[in-house]
Amino acid sequence: MQGTVAISGAKNSALPAMAAALLTAERVALHNIPRVRDIITMAKLLAFMGAKVGVDSFPGADYSIEAQALTHAEAPYELVKTMRASILTLGPTLARLGIARVSLPGGCAIGARPVDLHLSALEKMGAEIATTHGYIEARAPRGRLRGVRIRFDKITVTGTENILMAATLADGETILENAAREPEIGDLVGLLRKMGAKISGDGTATLKIEGVQKLGGAEHAVIPDRIEAGTFLVAGAITSGDLTLINCNPEHLGATITLLQRAGAVIETTGPHRVRVHAPRKLTAANATTEEYPGFATDMQAQYMALATQAEGTSVIDETIFENRFLHASEMMRMGANISIDGHRAVVRGPAALSGTTVQASDLRASAGLVLAGLVASGETIIERVYHIDRGYERIVEKLKALGAVIARVHGQNQ
Ligand code: UD1
Repeated sequence: MQGTVAISGAKNSALPAMAAALLTAERVALHNIPRVRDIITMAKLLAFMGAKVGVDSFPGADYSIEAQALTHAEAPYELVKTMRASILTLGPTLARLGIARVSLPGGCAIGARPVDLHLSALEKMGAEIATTHGYIEARAPRGRLRGVRIRFDKITVTGTENILMAATLADGETILENAAREPEIGDLVGLLRKMGAKISGDGTATLKIEGVQKLGGAEHAVIPDRIEAGTFLVAGAITSGDLTLINCNPEHLGATITLLQRAGAVIETTGPHRVRVHAPRKLTAANATTEEYPGFATDMQAQYMALATQAEGTSVIDETIFENRFLHASEMMRMGANISIDGHRAVVRGPAALSGTTVQASDLRASAGLVLAGLVASGETIIERVYHIDRGYERIVEKLKALGAVIARVHGQNQ
């Protein structure tokens, strides 16, 4: 594959940014929002709650959100079940209105993914929380949360974001220890600061938030999607191609770039927002362990596994973040990959000649992994349940096609 591809805005930055608009009655204008399904779900959720949501689309959408009067402090099951990130409305709604009701997200294909850390942190801030009839019902006595010191037992990205947002309107100072350090957290801090929040420590594992009485409107462009960028880096490497990614932030791609370089890809940062990848015919095996940022992202694991099937030697891939995130492996094996799974560890022996067949996507990033495997498989690969990919990749078919991939969206599937 050859050519230049523009990276979209980060879904995982856009979702908390949209939820943050619930914290103020004033208008929050957001730019570089990717046109993906999860964003539409979040927009629907905010509109259900009573916010005015305006969108001026294409290529990267601009959203205008005005939560002047929130009429429903509730995230209903119908919306939460399609997107776990709906939980991001809990912190801001509770902080703004003193009350919130959010459907329990439940499990998903890649693991149980509880929200216990979000809830215990809010309880520490004084919230009274009950979970009944499948809903989280939270109430702040006298309408306000209070600032406290919170230490997360485990690093959680949306948990950090939820409590960060809640703390901006709490009484007094909140200190969040063992906070996530993903670039999306820094982006959210940037937006909250523009809204008038007092936050320090971003980029470190300890965030300090001094609650204010009120937040105001702001305008903000979200950061580029580092997972989409990483996916295209793998696409370039796995096809021995020559791709240039533009509108990306190479600083956020460190662990992925290092891993792909170890596998033999040549990756150069050719400008502040630009990266080039090209690769020799032969890739070599390299081990990978998923970790919290700045480590190698679990959201890149499926895509890297596709590459490992093509690399010479044995690649050991350890998944440390989610308990059941190798569902794509069995589908890659049906395509001819040599992979054995033992709990949290996958051992990939390559190179294997993959052959196209019908495979099923189990989640968002698994679908991307299967698309990458399909790029190098002989014959035709049909990916079913591809709606998963539309949750998080903007115009993936068009972007890959423009780079020379032979790919089409087949209609009439059971989507
Ligand atoms: C976010 C990302 C997702 C990414 C993940 C890990 C968004 C919208 N989603 O998901 O793409 O794969 O980070 O980088 O940004 N956990 C608990 N209790 C909790 C919360 C989490 O046990 O209350 C566990 C989870 O089950 C998981 C681990 O902590 O094993 C990390 O999860 P977390 O960082 O919370 O993931 P999300 O924020 O849901």
